[in-house]
Amino acid sequence: MSVPPVPQGKRPAESATEMVQVVLPNDANPLGFILGGTVMHLIDIAAAIACHRHTRSLLVTAAVDGLQFLHPIKVGDLIILRSRVTATWSTSLEAEVEVFSEEILTGQRRMTSRAYLTFVTTDRDGKRVDVPGLILETAEEKAKADAANVRRAERLKARRELESRSS
Ligand SMILES: CC(C)(COP(=O)(O)OP(=O)(O)OC[C@H]1O[C@@H](n2cnc3c(N)ncnc32)[C@H](O)[C@@H]1OP(=O)(O)O)[C@@H](O)C(=O)NCCC(=O)NCCS
Repeated sequence: MSVPPVPQGKRPAESATEMVQVVLPNDANPLGFILGGTVMHLIDIAAAIACHRHTRSLLVTAAVDGLQFLHPIKVGDLIILRSRVTATWSTSLEAEVEVFSEEILTGQRRMTSRAYLTFVTTDRDGKRVDVPGLILETAEEKAKADAANVRRAERLKARRELESRSS
């Protein structure tokens, strides 16, 4: 029996992830809105799941791009996080996470945040692992990958500046 060929890459849809949970009082500030830190935690998890599904390796978060909160999400609403891999490089990759609120009774949905996170692969000994390529088929996927390359250059510049200031 012939052995199937090793896939050269994966499509963004193969690792795209949707997480949904209800906002509970324990997640909220005294105004009854979800805490920013809780949203950041969920963003990190949603992005990491998409990247784990793409790489099937261990990962660390290397960078999170500027994050904004457009609307509050209140206790009792659903918080929905959609993540997908936008670009891959040698041992790192980027995921986009879009966050939405959904009112349970009306179904009204609003986008509240969009974030870009970079993860770096590692094995249990701390060694880097090669990332499978990303198969870009649609114009939207190609545009997202182009934009990710621009962000990567900015991130690496920011990292170099931070390193030079902290040494
Ligand atoms: C992120 C980290 C692994 C990078 O370590 P490093 O030795 O500089 O990494 P390397 O030189 O081996 O680079 C590995 C890849 O990461 C990329 N990278 C490193 N820092 C990056 C950053 N800030 N933004 C984007 N990409 C970054 C490199 O460009 C390289 O990409 P490529 O192989 O795809 O071309 C390291 O700084 C670290 O462990 N940080 C702490 C991570 C952590 O604990 N996260 C949890 C939250 S604090």
